[in-house]
Amino acid sequence: MQIQIQPTSSSRIDQVDFDNLTFGRSFADHMLVAEYADGAWQSVTIQPYGPLAYQPAMMSLHYGQSIFEGMKGYRSVSGDIQVFRPEENLKRFNKSALRMCMPEVPKEIFLDGLRTLLKLDQAWVPAKEGCSLYIRPFMFATDEYVGVTPSNTYKFIIFNCPVGSYYTKPLRVRVETEFIRAAKGGVGFAKNAGNYGGSLFPTQNAIKDGYDQIIWTDAATHQFVEEAGTMNLMFVVNGSLVTAPTGDTILDGVTRKSVLQIAKDWGMDVQERPLSIKELIQGIQSGVVTEAFGAGTAAVIAPIATIGFEGIDYHLPARKDDDFSVKVYNEINQIRLGQIPDARGWIWKV
Ligand code: COI
Repeated sequence: MQIQIQPTSSSRIDQVDFDNLTFGRSFADHMLVAEYADGAWQSVTIQPYGPLAYQPAMMSLHYGQSIFEGMKGYRSVSGDIQVFRPEENLKRFNKSALRMCMPEVPKEIFLDGLRTLLKLDQAWVPAKEGCSLYIRPFMFATDEYVGVTPSNTYKFIIFNCPVGSYYTKPLRVRVETEFIRAAKGGVGFAKNAGNYGGSLFPTQNAIKDGYDQIIWTDAATHQFVEEAGTMNLMFVVNGSLVTAPTGDTILDGVTRKSVLQIAKDWGMDVQERPLSIKELIQGIQSGVVTEAFGAGTAAVIAPIATIGFEGIDYHLPARKDDDFSVKVYNEINQIRLGQIPDARGWIWKV
């Protein structure tokens, strides 16, 4: 499909302090906008990032037909722009779309469109260590209608943010045993906007009590670890890497699957199995749980220092350079920056 390009007449890049990037508050000059109507993608335009006008009755605002993805672009040591495993995000995006009765977005729009957009905005990809260009593709229902039914029209948009770290220090997380994120048969595996809206209240409660995030537990019993909402959770237990199996309720994270693959390649025992809160807490107390961390696109590898459960804080051992989470972060980071060979074919060059 032909991409129409309407370049900005004045770049905003000079307004951004690339030495002090936070997460998600600066936006690159351009965005890609694709329109779906009459059963087909009609047009793809790259235009200046900026406001769009919509009717108050736009369906996605009322009934939540809205999905998204998160990817990261890096400036490699040779100066190339490269993205980490975007084909995986496209697959997951289209699984989310199916679950939410939305049209699939073809590779020609998602990936070829992204390539054109990144070529235009390549100056926005930070070069500083620890920084990257966070890529946010999303799609939402645009019909002006108040009945509860799938929309006939949609917009697919990609915008980009130069970002620093999502989490800036080892995390204090609290096990959530009242509220739930997802149940069997629900939409927990999909990256739909409502999953994140529903997480805000319990997360804010935990923040008020001095934590950074929550550990969701399973809806049926509240006894098993699920994920953290912004990332999958992983633990080193007796030297094995343990993480909850994906399914209806847990997001099939791209960073998660990359970490599992690296651990297997390194000969580590990998267990995708339910981990009970009891086993986790007893394991921290007895010393068999030596590491806990989150894995996600925004978070990358986020070490967990403390887990709160039923009013008591349990502390993980202090981080060491030879911890698995430190080594796997370094491996992923070096692949993304082109500092070591991309033996697994994870890099997508712009
Ligand atoms: C990502 O890691 O891309 C996420 O989706 C987390 C985000 C909600 C900040």
